[in-house]
Amino acid sequence: MDENHRPGEETGTELTAAEAEAEASPAEPADEPAAPRTPDESMSRRTFLLWAAGISVGFTALASGWMVYEAVLPPGRSVEGKTKVGPLAIAKLDELEEGVPVLLEYGDDVVFVAKQPDGSALVFDAACPHVGCKLSWNEAADEFECPCHDSGFHPDGTLAYGPAGRDMIVAVHEIDDDGNVVVSGFEG
Ligand code: FES
Repeated sequence: MDENHRPGEETGTELTAAEAEAEASPAEPADEPAAPRTPDESMSRRTFLLWAAGISVGFTALASGWMVYEAVLPPGRSVEGKTKVGPLAIAKLDELEEGVPVLLEYGDDVVFVAKQPDGSALVFDAACPHVGCKLSWNEAADEFECPCHDSGFHPDGTLAYGPAGRDMIVAVHEIDDDGNVVVSGFEG
């Protein structure tokens, strides 16, 4: 019998200090499952994702819309659809031949001016309302024509055929006391 072992004591190997400490306070399991989310937490996460998705879709739609708008905007026009030039006298009505549209500059734009039998004038943006190609006047066919996608317009600016889908853009104008054709912008 071991002299150091008193009767009634357990036999076996003594615990080291580290083992004793580990036994006293066992470590947390590493992969303990996370506590389930409360309904409020789930809802706020879902709401945030919906907002994020909505904002993303909104920005994409806005950017696409802007690109399309810029593409159909005739050259030389501001985003409001108006030229940046103010009222400008561009022709003497008396010097124009009746019923024959002539091309004249108005700021960065070019317009057709056609003297009418009643002494008024028709004035149109020379940019096609489709995607802005420059229209030309075909005297023989008695119509304005677009070289890009084959749209045609009657002498009064109304759409005759083609993909433009709308009439020519009318230039806002008046005949002043001196008989000048004064253009001040474009209708929408
Ligand atoms: S730009 Fe004139 S029909 Fe397309």
